Amino acid sequence: MGALRTIILILAFIATVTVVNCHNITAILSAFPEYSEYNNYLSQTKLDDEINSRDTVTVLVLNNGAVSALAAKHPLAVVKNVLSLHILLDYFDNKKLHAIPDGSALSTTMYQTTGNAPGNVGFVNITDLKGGKVGFGSGAPGSKLDSSYTKSVKQIPYNISVLEINAPIIAPGILTAPAESANVNITGLLEKAGCKTFVKYITDTGVLKVFQMAAEKGLTLFAPNDEAFKAAGVPDLSKLSNAALVALLQYHALARYAPKGSLKTTKTSMATLATSAAGKYDISVKTAGDDVRLDSGVGTSRLASTVLDSTPLCIFTVDSVLLPTELFGKAPSPAPVMSPESSPAPAPSDDLSPEPAVAPAPLDAPPAPPAESPVDGPAPSDGPTADSENSNASNGVTSVKAPSVSDFRVIYHVNVDYVGLCYVLSLHFKCFYG
Ligand SMILES: *[C@@H]1O[C@H](CO)[C@@H](O)[C@H](O)[C@H]1NC(C)=O
Ligand SMILES: *[C@@H]1O[C@H](CO)[C@@H](O)[C@H](O)[C@H]1NC(C)=O
Ligand SMILES: *[C@@H]1O[C@H](CO)[C@@H](O)[C@H](O)[C@H]1NC(C)=O
Ligand SMILES: *[C@@H]1O[C@H](CO)[C@@H](O)[C@H](O)[C@H]1NC(C)=O
Ligand SMILES: *[C@@H]1O[C@H](CO)[C@@H](O)[C@H](O)[C@H]1NC(C)=O
Repeated sequence: MGALRTIILILAFIATVTVVNCHNITAILSAFPEYSEYNNYLSQTKLDDEINSRDTVTVLVLNNGAVSALAAKHPLAVVKNVLSLHILLDYFDNKKLHAIPDGSALSTTMYQTTGNAPGNVGFVNITDLKGGKVGFGSGAPGSKLDSSYTKSVKQIPYNISVLEINAPIIAPGILTAPAESANVNITGLLEKAGCKTFVKYITDTGVLKVFQMAAEKGLTLFAPNDEAFKAAGVPDLSKLSNAALVALLQYHALARYAPKGSLKTTKTSMATLATSAAGKYDISVKTAGDDVRLDSGVGTSRLASTVLDSTPLCIFTVDSVLLPTELFGKAPSPAPVMSPESSPAPAPSDDLSPEPAVAPAPLDAPPAPPAESPVDGPAPSDGPTADSENSNASNGVTSVKAPSVSDFRVIYHVNVDYVGLCYVLSLHFKCFYG
């Protein structure tokens, strides 16, 4: 165990070093009152988390007048898109701006990574103009260079550079407002994204209405795809009481806007829509590079794709059904007792319809315990073979695999050690750079 722990600690250390970031854009900009509006919008749109989670980034800032003019005319989702076009995923300082090969370059921006940017719309054109001027414009062909570099604000070479430009860079179509989140067709988007089973469940239980109401103020959905419900080992959801099913579905949502960048920088466990006096129903995040996993305590699920990121609504698909410990215990749920081969996949969404439509449960009702007690330890059939066979992250099985008692000890120790180590490292880096 000692050697294993050492190896795991070293791996954890490497993982930590690659995710630790030393810059804090909010702190950097707070020294400049002329950018307080820009800073304020970075926080509101959570772009600050995105910037802080990048190793190499250039932030093109605008003064308060320019930001206020933009924000007065457009909703927050548009402001976010425009600002994300001002975050270059490369490092440019004064020197590099004046040494661009052939005098002109396209840089990728944060807007490009949202998937909303067709063609070159997510790129920024940087051109070294005559007389020492540097022009900025959209990377879309035929765009003008309407913004100019005015001065360098702050650099931490070669991780973050903050440069001021005199006017916002506007890409074609970027000012078109997306649908108000209250009017977003959540079920339509989810069906298109391959989450028909989840849609069926939230519609039948009435949880959809809860989501729609929350969407106006802030909502993040983690919708398991259809494969996740079919994965071997997913408990038979038809055995859950209605209250428990409602809690399970609400467990797949946060009552706030949390885009991927924010999830990546989340270090404490998060309350979900299922959180109530009846149970904590919280969830934590594990990040390695661009890979974000949600940990329910029973198992983990990978964030598979972003379906929608439009402040204040965010919709993701996840690879596995998230099983809260409140319903399924720290130990595996009873369902996986069946071997993967003999376990029938839950009925596909179409087959769910003949069931009598269940009335929406009173949301404050405490969730009923699962049909069978979760405290029976791991089932004998879940030996090491089953574990290794089930270790493919993409097939959704990992979330309900049954670790042995000794696995739990290792996981527990690693978690404690890992958290301690992260803490020590973060202090170290704070002292070093802060
Ligand atoms: C960044 O700095 C701001 C202001 O100094 C502070 O409130 C915030 O907690 C910091 N964020 C992180 C992730 O350290
Ligand atoms: C700073 O940038 C260098 C080179 O791109 C990179 O190797 C390093 O990890 C970055 N440091 C931090 C703390 O992000
Ligand atoms: C940048 O824009 C200018 C002016 O429209 C154009 O001449 C130049 O080719 C563009 N640069 C790149 C790399 O696309
Ligand atoms: C939402 O989308 C679905 C599937 O595309 C469609 O059947 C449904 O009518 C839409 N609902 C609304 C309110 O537009
Ligand atoms: C796991 O993935 C490997 C390679 O992708 C595949 O050969 C194997 O069958 C998968 N195992 C399971 C249990 O899905």
